[in-house]
Amino acid sequence: MFFLNLKLVICIFFAISFSAWSDQNSDKINPEIFNIGSQNKNIKLKKERKPIVSDNWMVVTANSQASIVAGKILEKGGTAVDAMISAQLVLGLVEPESSGLGGGAFLVYFDNTKKEVITLDGRETAPLLIKEKIFQDVDGKSLKFFDAVVGGKSVGTPGTPALLEEAYKRWGRTKWSLLFKDAMNLSNNGFIVSKKLNSSIKRSKNSLSKFINTKTYFLPNNVPLKIGDIHINKKYANTLKVFARDGSKVFYDGAIGDDIISTVQKASINAGFLSHKDLLNYKVIERSPVCSKYRDYEVCGMGPPSSGALTISQILGMIENYNISELGPTNPDTWKIIGDASRLAFADRSLYMADSDFINVPINELIDKNYLYERSKFLDSKNKIEIVKAGKLVSKSSSNWSNDISLELPSTSHISIVDIYGNALSMTTTIENGFGSRLMTNGGFLLNNELTDFSFKSFKNGKKIANNIEPGKRPRSSMAPTIILKNNRPVYVLGSPGGSNIIGYVVNAIVSMIDWKNNAQEAASVSHGINKFGTYYLEKNTFISKLAPSLEAMNYKVKLKNFSSGLNIININDRLYGGSDHRREGIAIGN
Ligand code: GLY
Repeated sequence: MFFLNLKLVICIFFAISFSAWSDQNSDKINPEIFNIGSQNKNIKLKKERKPIVSDNWMVVTANSQASIVAGKILEKGGTAVDAMISAQLVLGLVEPESSGLGGGAFLVYFDNTKKEVITLDGRETAPLLIKEKIFQDVDGKSLKFFDAVVGGKSVGTPGTPALLEEAYKRWGRTKWSLLFKDAMNLSNNGFIVSKKLNSSIKRSKNSLSKFINTKTYFLPNNVPLKIGDIHINKKYANTLKVFARDGSKVFYDGAIGDDIISTVQKASINAGFLSHKDLLNYKVIERSPVCSKYRDYEVCGMGPPSSGALTISQILGMIENYNISELGPTNPDTWKIIGDASRLAFADRSLYMADSDFINVPINELIDKNYLYERSKFLDSKNKIEIVKAGKLVSKSSSNWSNDISLELPSTSHISIVDIYGNALSMTTTIENGFGSRLMTNGGFLLNNELTDFSFKSFKNGKKIANNIEPGKRPRSSMAPTIILKNNRPVYVLGSPGGSNIIGYVVNAIVSMIDWKNNAQEAASVSHGINKFGTYYLEKNTFISKLAPSLEAMNYKVKLKNFSSGLNIININDRLYGGSDHRREGIAIGN
């Protein structure tokens, strides 16, 4: 009876709230008219979407339930960090396949009091007991990707709980326990299963069924959770209760940590090496942001261990020597320039980028304008560049490395927020692959498989690979939470999920806004052409797919495909303009 009533109440709220938020023409959306449980059932197509506009604050996340909860915090005077924490706690429940307390994240923050960009690294670390050949078979061959992903071996020390607490200590304002309230209510009383969660479970049914906790939760009676199901996660509610009461220590030196270790070490498949020492040693690291000029703007993001900001800076630094604004988005020459700039940057990425606490990443050289100008001369050709090689850098140690051979598949989630104090926050958060390692703790959250972001091999042609596995090292990431400044003020806040495609998605969105003067929603829905290693992937059923014959005539191998970017963007202008990628379930709300 209780559940029937609950369903009815939530359905009524859904009906009210859906009609409100789905009207992307609305100038203002008051979060108080939403209720927890509203769900994005009827994603608007690209052509129907308009930016959400507001004056005071804005939040864009991958799921309406998370955006609404964060919006409530912002409406009550909470900071961007307060809102991010409440959104992340809800995302761990409603979009558990993408991010959560068992994963890691990078935070890029514009502090409006100090007028500076600060970046925090909450990336997972490799266990101290890890072995160099962990992802190789007895003959030294790399394991198949999913043979490495599923189970305990791929689990790195989670960074997200520590990151949330560190960010709160620096920039939080709302009472800590209040940030947990809505996520706890949703866990105890039920959240609505989205289309994305349902289809993700169906896609991963086999691997999710390998572990009893995971199977029971996502496939009760062997049936995937259905769209619109109201699902309860009491274990997660309990984790939130303890986290709210005792802080992140419970993950690193407490009962939740004990359970994480036992889940990893006793995994029935690929028992792993994570130990209490790894948890006790874990630290969030403040790092210098990687900022580079692009036309009249300064593009800032997360440096190593992420390759995101460096690779984006390289691509933009090369293409700014060409007038792609005049060429326009429908000109194949534009995509030749962007595609080959991306290939050149990815060649540098493979060779030079990894955790800078373990190798000397020549950051300044990689984004040096003269170096990029020289590299950009390769783009001045009629046809595609035939042979793409990493650039030669002065840095001595880097010349000994070899090209990386790691595989990164799309997953992850992105949060963009602007608060009433003028602070801006861009955070990309992940458990790596969809559903991570597939291991679910007794605390109701999934553990990451971030270690498969390392190269499976440490050497190639006798030379060490920069992104090799080492104890305590952070795997190279492609996550690219970005804040773009003009005259020292933030004007764009953006990022996306999507594995190593993140870099291309973010570049496309930046070019769309800065060069082609598109708004935040148009940029979030920009049609994608992605070229990392030679083949040009063009987005099916968009104008860009019509460029295939012209790009083939330039000698590219072309493939048409669907993309699953999830760009979440805020443009800070005379007002705040928010856009969310039509390809996923994200939503911007503001007031
Ligand atoms: N695991 C996705 C990334 O860090 O790029």
